[in-house]
Amino acid sequence: MTAVQLPFGTLSVAPMMDWTDRHCRFFLRQVCPSCVLFTEMVTTPAILRGKDPARYLDFDRQESPLILQLGGDDPEAMARAARIARDDYGYAGLNLNVGCPSARVQKGRFGACLMRDPLLVRELLDAMASSGLPVSVKHRLGLDREEEYEGLADFVRSIGQGHCKHFIVHARNAWLKGLNPAENREIPPLRWNWVQRLKQDFPDFRIELNGGLRDAEQVLALWPSVDGVMLGRAAYHSPLLLAQIEQALGRRQDLPHPRAILKGLLPYVDAWGERLPAPRLLRHLHGLYAGLPGAKAWRRLLGSARPSESAAVALRRMLLALQSWQQDAVLELG
Ligand SMILES: Cc1cc2nc3c(=O)[nH]c(=O)nc-3n(C[C@H](O)[C@H](O)[C@H](O)COP(=O)(O)O)c2cc1C
Repeated sequence: MTAVQLPFGTLSVAPMMDWTDRHCRFFLRQVCPSCVLFTEMVTTPAILRGKDPARYLDFDRQESPLILQLGGDDPEAMARAARIARDDYGYAGLNLNVGCPSARVQKGRFGACLMRDPLLVRELLDAMASSGLPVSVKHRLGLDREEEYEGLADFVRSIGQGHCKHFIVHARNAWLKGLNPAENREIPPLRWNWVQRLKQDFPDFRIELNGGLRDAEQVLALWPSVDGVMLGRAAYHSPLLLAQIEQALGRRQDLPHPRAILKGLLPYVDAWGERLPAPRLLRHLHGLYAGLPGAKAWRRLLGSARPSESAAVALRRMLLALQSWQQDAVLELG
């Protein structure tokens, strides 16, 4: 694909619970230097009353710019969590989860069901903004079978009367009854055009699009009509796609070689040593060769790691194996 120079816009990787943990994010940062990364959702009770908040909140400076995604429904708790994120951890910004449809989150009255209460969402965002950090909200188009664009526009208009002017829109509804979270990322129809229309109707707001993006062509086609795009599953399963998009946007010349990316992880795994068992890092690397020759052999190699060994030991062994495969021309790898 020919690289085109586009001046502005954010490419980001979506918050994904259990997937975008700190090790995954560090790896993704090696692939994509210009992406904005998000934590998994962390709830305010986990920060304020949890046994070990640092487990969710600590991160490596190299992950920056990193946004902490918060979940909660209490403005006062939100303000306290936001101050902790700023003072104790140094996050670049905060994001409010108004998109998660899981039963657990609904029980806590936050996530997607907050779309019913834009005034509370505004209060929560104002509480987060009291930390002085930039804030954004990630939300859906609507709930259940709501089919009117005006409902979405009213939501955005109402939120925008507060401090938050930055909206990341997962371009499908959340169906709160009858679908599990995975189905809720597949079955409700995608409507990218509603997000594009939001940008036209609210040109002063920052509007980013998320949901169902699979390749660089789609991103390039949407890029001029929104302020940014966020990729979730496609970035996780095919991380080099992020580098392809950076290249297509004229933000980098060459694509990184998978082996160079793995080598870039060595100082990180060495610093962690025995504290980082191999599976905690390697589980995020399955897609490294996605679409490249040797993808299957790579996944087999990952499967050969022993749960008891450290990531540092396993990664070195894998680099050696890749080197010998390459010498034997078993794999045409970078
Ligand atoms: C395993 C998994 C966990 C997720 N966890 C979160 C989360 O913690 N917070 C959130 O806002 N969205 C979460 N999502 C939704 C994604 O952020 C994203 O909105 C959704 O996957 C649609 O984007 P995609 O089609 O590019 O994957 C999760 C998605 C997946 C696949």
